[in-house]
Amino acid sequence: MSDARPILFFDSGVGGLSIVAPARLAVPDARFVYVADSAGFPYGTRSEAEIAARVPALLGRLAERYRPRLIVIACNTASTIALAAVRQALDLPIVGTVPAIKPAGAMSGTRAIGVLGTEATVRQAYVDDLAARFAGDCRVIRHGSAELVRLAEAKLRGEPTDPARYAAVLAGLFDQPGGEAIDVIVNACTHFPLVEAELAAAAGSHRVRFVDGGAGIARRIAHLTEGQDFARGAEDVAVFTGAGGEALAPALARYGFPRIEGL
Ligand code: DGL
Repeated sequence: MSDARPILFFDSGVGGLSIVAPARLAVPDARFVYVADSAGFPYGTRSEAEIAARVPALLGRLAERYRPRLIVIACNTASTIALAAVRQALDLPIVGTVPAIKPAGAMSGTRAIGVLGTEATVRQAYVDDLAARFAGDCRVIRHGSAELVRLAEAKLRGEPTDPARYAAVLAGLFDQPGGEAIDVIVNACTHFPLVEAELAAAAGSHRVRFVDGGAGIARRIAHLTEGQDFARGAEDVAVFTGAGGEALAPALARYGFPRIEGL
């Protein structure tokens, strides 16, 4: 029996596409469904209670509708707040996206790491825990930015974005005590790798490298689906829970989602 069950990627918006790209290379035969919770966007300025109530319920509906073999919560905000609850509620493998502090701890020469995420992510105890476990001897400096999420969405809609805005976001890290020593920045929101070139250009004289969870998640997906049969069945689809899909259609097509539907 051929197995056409998709892998379902979930984010508040287009951020999860930064996870889709490496995942495509890791499991090229798999069918993907991409879900943007545009009706709930943005997550980063919501409360823990809102995310904890919304995400498991929505993923339950999506699992029933699309019958995925695996769900990737391609969103740091949702993962750091609701991963355990989603795993408890659904009887299928769930891969979360958590800030890549572990590789950053291994990479930093100056022992100063920047963590750039949403406001909701950077205040999570989950981040304290990762910092203590994997970067205990580093100064871990955090900054939450809702603006960078908006800039990434705008870029993918094909709108021009102002380079000065990226520099202002980075100043939120570099201007903190010890921030000038940062040599690695964790893109702890899946939207941010989509604007990594803009961030790198805005870093100017600061010599920094960026790291995110995409490669590790792609390896995890390949491991969890190893030996499984992949049949294409239907074409890949992007699902929007609210408005906003149309303006993103060209970007979604570039990432392999030629069709958009509502939930
Ligand atoms: N892409 C999401 C993340 O990784 C959040 C963006 C938002 O909705 O604020 O955290």
